[in-house]
Amino acid sequence: MKTYGLIGFPLKHSFSGKYFSEKFKKENIQVCEYRLFPLESVGEFDELKQQDIAGLNVTIPYKEQIIPFLDELDEHAKSIGAVNVIQFKDGKTKGFNSDYYGFKNSLLNFIPKKSCSKALILGTGGASKAIKQVLIDLSIPFKVVSRKAGFDYTYDDLNSKTDVIQEYHLIINTTPLGTYPNIDEKPYFPYKALSDNHYLYDLVYNPAETAFLKAGKNQGAKTINGLEMLIGQAEKSWEIWNALAK
Ligand SMILES: NC(=O)c1ccc[n+]([C@@H]2O[C@H](COP(=O)([O-])OP(=O)(O)OC[C@H]3O[C@@H](n4cnc5c(N)ncnc54)[C@H](OP(=O)(O)O)[C@@H]3O)[C@@H](O)[C@H]2O)c1
Repeated sequence: MKTYGLIGFPLKHSFSGKYFSEKFKKENIQVCEYRLFPLESVGEFDELKQQDIAGLNVTIPYKEQIIPFLDELDEHAKSIGAVNVIQFKDGKTKGFNSDYYGFKNSLLNFIPKKSCSKALILGTGGASKAIKQVLIDLSIPFKVVSRKAGFDYTYDDLNSKTDVIQEYHLIINTTPLGTYPNIDEKPYFPYKALSDNHYLYDLVYNPAETAFLKAGKNQGAKTINGLEMLIGQAEKSWEIWNALAK
């Protein structure tokens, strides 16, 4: 039996657990299991890795804290500064960031290349870092919006200078606002300035149409939620563990 799994804490509702268990059933993969390993501290990873593990996903709060515990880092994980996949190969551990690949592939399907002049990233957390790296690698210029000073714009800046929105055709929500059950929440953004020239990407996938996407759609904007990214990052994990591993 090959054991894959997820580390993080707490691990109540895991997309990955459900996704991989269903994948193993659907694809008749009988020799694999996917287990949840709730670690109360990241140091417990050292003990876990002594077990016969084939591959791990990493979630909150360890995506950054796990880095010093790994033998190697993939170049994208290094520049992003966060790991959500661990490959076990030849007795060594290597960290990858599959959010990067999940978002990149999904974005390329979503936006016609020439339509995207510049992007705005809402939020400055862990996911925002992977999104930034994708935009850098795709040569899409971007600015970052935060509630805090010290970034390119605050939400107040955008609401007081709404003409700025015409410069940015891709708006990416990396904040958790609008996630079930708080489905009426959305970033404080000048939605009225959006038009059918805009593309709105929400990393949130539950509900399928967030208040952020709904407000954009009402203005004619094209929209996508985070489900394709989520599935993309899970499949990339599988590829990393298998194609590259053995
Ligand atoms: N679809 C996928 O595959 C995928 C992958 C990764 C993450 N996600 C989703 O992306 C979201 C962010 O994840 P994360 O790991 O980056 O979380 P995080 O590290 O907690 O960061 C979220 C950022 O959003 C902003 N924010 C938080 N609360 C806010 C509020 N009440 N109002 C306005 N802004 C707020 C903050 O930026 P400022 O302090 O700068 O305002 C914060 O740094 C989550 O909903 C997660 O489920 C989806």
